[in-house]
Amino acid sequence: MSTGADAIKVMKQQVGKAAADRVQSGSIVGLGTGSTTAYAIQFLGDRLKSGELTDIKGIPTSFQASVLAKQYGIPLTTLDEVDRIHIAIDGADEVDPQKNLIKGGGAAHTREKVVDSLAELFIVVVDQSKIVTALGSTFPVPVEVLPMAIAPVTRALEQLGGKPELRMGVRKDGPVITDQGNMVLDVTFASIPNPAELEKILNNIPGVLENGIFVGVTDIVLIGEIQDGQPVVREM
Ligand code: 5RP
Repeated sequence: MSTGADAIKVMKQQVGKAAADRVQSGSIVGLGTGSTTAYAIQFLGDRLKSGELTDIKGIPTSFQASVLAKQYGIPLTTLDEVDRIHIAIDGADEVDPQKNLIKGGGAAHTREKVVDSLAELFIVVVDQSKIVTALGSTFPVPVEVLPMAIAPVTRALEQLGGKPELRMGVRKDGPVITDQGNMVLDVTFASIPNPAELEKILNNIPGVLENGIFVGVTDIVLIGEIQDGQPVVREM
């Protein structure tokens, strides 16, 4: 197995497949966002097409997830129509030893937190590069903010010791606009000694919709790794 981009792709595919394999017929499935979850959605579609899996409905966490679900033939539903989510599969940008997460690399963390928190079984799918000893060591905390409150929220985050940076679009001038029409501040903290406390403090700033710290939500972490040149999936 070569290293670099190819290896990461294989790890993401394997872990996406391993999560999709855990979905049972008749389930309501939370469909996460990102390149790893995209493989899980693809494999769910394959299982439906082969007839091995029947009667599932997806709840997408983003526009991207709903586009992929439609592409791979997964029927969709909404939280208005169902009263439970049996299982959710989603990626993460960082996973700590307590299975706390930083999410929001795709600016979808607000809907992701709604869906992932409601799921009776929440499976996180990551490649080995996402495993950290402490949150915030490799990735800033994404904070979704109402556009009219960007200036006061930026000041409040600086007063908390964070370094907020407005997330800018790629191949689009100006800031990233979320599926809800808001903006994202990526906030770097020197350290995050208490993720649960920081999650609450950030969400208490007027104008903040949601932040990307997920505490106590994860049930299972599946990690795609390369061992002895071969892709393997292990459970954390
Ligand atoms: C989107 C997310 C993604 O799940 C996270 O960024 C991981 O993405 P990828 O699987 O592409 O590395 O939180 O908001």
